[in-house]
Amino acid sequence: MATNVPEAVANDLNPGPIEAEDAATSDWDEESIASSTQSLTESILDHIYQGGRRYHRKSKEQYFLPSDDTEQDRLDMIHEMHLELLNRRLTMTKLTEDPGNVLDCGCGTGIWALDFGNEHPGSQVVGLDLAPIQPGWTAPNVKFELDDLEKEWTYAPNHFNFIHSRHLAVSIKDWPKYLRQMYYHAAPGANIEVVEYNMDKMLCDDGTMPENSAYHTYTDALQSSLQKLGIDGGYHATDYKRMMQEAGFVDVNIYAFKIPIGIWTRNPKLKKIGFIFYHIATTGAEAHAYSLLTNVGGYSVENARKIIDDVVATFKRAKEHVYYMEYYITGRKPK
Ligand SMILES: C[S@@+](CC[C@H](N)C(=O)[O-])C[C@H]1O[C@@H](n2cnc3c(N)ncnc32)[C@H](O)[C@@H]1O
Repeated sequence: MATNVPEAVANDLNPGPIEAEDAATSDWDEESIASSTQSLTESILDHIYQGGRRYHRKSKEQYFLPSDDTEQDRLDMIHEMHLELLNRRLTMTKLTEDPGNVLDCGCGTGIWALDFGNEHPGSQVVGLDLAPIQPGWTAPNVKFELDDLEKEWTYAPNHFNFIHSRHLAVSIKDWPKYLRQMYYHAAPGANIEVVEYNMDKMLCDDGTMPENSAYHTYTDALQSSLQKLGIDGGYHATDYKRMMQEAGFVDVNIYAFKIPIGIWTRNPKLKKIGFIFYHIATTGAEAHAYSLLTNVGGYSVENARKIIDDVVATFKRAKEHVYYMEYYITGRKPK
């Protein structure tokens, strides 16, 4: 395992501007964008199909992203992007030894939990999710459970030595309660790590994103729809930090990264990350917006499709040098 801390890490909220190439182009090979096929073995009754995507019935009214193979591929690509960002590390938390009991909240395909279990054979890792999209086979020290993180947790108090939570901003309605539950079930001295991103707007340092950008239309539509669900999509790293401190965690640190959308940047590392994110965003725009906008936001199917298609076309053109912020917020329960 590489243990070097990534050079791009900045323990503040303002890493420097990302430089664009002289002529950022959109030489994308559409053929290379992976397609996926549906498994024939899954019980069709567990799923709801809408707009060509498959959603898990258990997530209904709780989580609006699909759970089909396309989405599972996307979640695994996000994991790869984080590995690249952290120079192949799984966490920004400095662990001196294998933490005993580990919880991965909203584990998705289980890829982080499996990798963590592999790197820490002395740990017992639980991956918890609403939807059963984890592999049936698993390592001896990793298990998967199905539950709702917004309900009362059934674990013993003071149980976990490390709690990891990545990309649950579109899911958790009551963050203070969620963090209080983490605190209650964390052992004294345990570490927690919350990994989130800014959802309220895309960012741009060089004026290439116009006022009427499709990015703004897209993020505004997401925000207003999330609001109707009672989800605050406007949290930034400092909000998570404050809520973690209010829950009782100490030594709370923020590590902030800029993630370019597409390959418009000169910086080779960010270009690679932007390339991975391009693939993530190609299906991610629909994954985030289609069900949310049509089922919650009150958008017509045509309107939702247009918002999604416009934003995808915009990042494919790569003329707007747009990025978002990815935040790792680490903390510790006092001994
Ligand atoms: C965007 S995915 C992130 C997956 C994973 N953390 C990762 O980074 O690869 C969010 C996951 O959280 C799960 N989820 C959403 N709301 C949840 C809840 N209330 N309880 C448990 N899992 C939830 C979803 O089913 C989905 O798998």
